[in-house]
Amino acid sequence: MKILVVGSGGREHALAWKLAQSERSQTVFVAPGNGGTDLHPHLKNLAITDPLALAEFALQEKIGITVVGPEVPLAAGIVNIFREKGLKIFGPTKEAAQLESSKDFAKSFMQRHGIPTAEYQTFSELQAAHAYIDLKGAPIVVKADGLAAGKGVVVAMTLEEAHAAVDMMLSDNKLGDAGARVVVEEFLSGEEASFIVMVDGKNVLALATSQDHKRLLDHDQGPNTGGMGAYSPAPIVTPELHARVMREIIQPTVQGMAKDGIVFTGFLYAGLMIDEAGNPKTLEFNCRMGDPETQPIMARLKTDLLTVMEHAVNGSLDSIELDWDRRTALGVVLAAEGYPDTPVKGADITGIPAESADCISFHAGTTLAGGKLSVTGGRVLCVVGLGDSVKAAQKQAYDAVDKIRFKGAQYRKDIGWRALHRKH
Ligand SMILES: Nc1ncnc2c1ncn2[C@@H]1O[C@H](COP(=O)(O)OP(=O)(O)OP(=O)(O)O)[C@@H](O)[C@H]1O
Ligand SMILES: [Mg+2]
Repeated sequence: MKILVVGSGGREHALAWKLAQSERSQTVFVAPGNGGTDLHPHLKNLAITDPLALAEFALQEKIGITVVGPEVPLAAGIVNIFREKGLKIFGPTKEAAQLESSKDFAKSFMQRHGIPTAEYQTFSELQAAHAYIDLKGAPIVVKADGLAAGKGVVVAMTLEEAHAAVDMMLSDNKLGDAGARVVVEEFLSGEEASFIVMVDGKNVLALATSQDHKRLLDHDQGPNTGGMGAYSPAPIVTPELHARVMREIIQPTVQGMAKDGIVFTGFLYAGLMIDEAGNPKTLEFNCRMGDPETQPIMARLKTDLLTVMEHAVNGSLDSIELDWDRRTALGVVLAAEGYPDTPVKGADITGIPAESADCISFHAGTTLAGGKLSVTGGRVLCVVGLGDSVKAAQKQAYDAVDKIRFKGAQYRKDIGWRALHRKH
């Protein structure tokens, strides 16, 4: 079967890499892909990004299944377009993708269906937002309603920061339409975890748990990024907590969407905040897999992903189980100089070790030209190590990271620290 993966990041490299391992997969096209997908013998980069043009390509090439990585084409309706043409695609429709593309939609949905989340109010009017912030006090969180590529959330520790965030979004229009409405919500403290499941409209299949590292620098310091590393499993998600999240968050979300007449299909990612007492609340929904969480998760998946995807698009996810490598997978992101604000492009990349049973280097912001790899974006690589413990996985990943060279490379030295410091 021919397969199409939409996107160009490390997440898409990992999905395509896993799909290519299936005995039944022929070419896996990656649109537009990156240097890593270009290098892989069974993957083929495709220089198309427009959803309509991709659907035309899928028809012509008789693509059997399409998997969408990023949120932007989903929010633009790529799933609607493919389905209208009778093409099989895994992802949410434009309507269902509102769980991610509108924070106000997600919050009012959660409130209506009794799904635990931070208390909030939504504003499009400046004075009302300022007054609510003064009433509630700091710390408090200000979020742009729309998609803002990770720039739309301000966790304000002081009232000044919160007021400035509201001004930036509602009055200075720094985020454009995405910031024309803001959600102001209660600050939650605790530890975060990523809880990702596949949904076929009715059935839910949970993937392995994971934890991301959002801040640029060690010890969770510095600015927020798209993610500097991740590992799976996340020991904070005990079997008891897992059952509770399924019961209190995931199932009510899938059933609530169906009840509201917007059947959800695709990856559903609940960003969780788990408080000191172990109670989970939903920080946000994403309607796609996380990056970099996908890289360690795919490194651990033993089941044939093409078969899983077929069940997902045919509504039969209840008939399979997933088999996971019992080892820990830990991914370290190497980012470009100047990331996240002003990533510098163009540096030559050398020293990426060959794939082995314990280490895989997934590419993101890379391109291949004349046999040479160079940097094209903020997050450049995600090097995943596997080991029998977090420490062993860390060693595998960092041994490989030490061999990779490009000018100005930045990476965290402490990926996995929460799991290492956890008392079991
Ligand atoms: N209510 C809250 N209390 C404390 N921290 C929060 C809260 N909401 C969000 N955060 C922090 O801000 C980060 C980003 O928030 P959120 O996930 O809603 O934004 P996003 O831009 O959609 O992120 P992503 O890029 O992961 O999709 C969270 O991972 C968390 O660290
Ligand atoms: Mg989000």
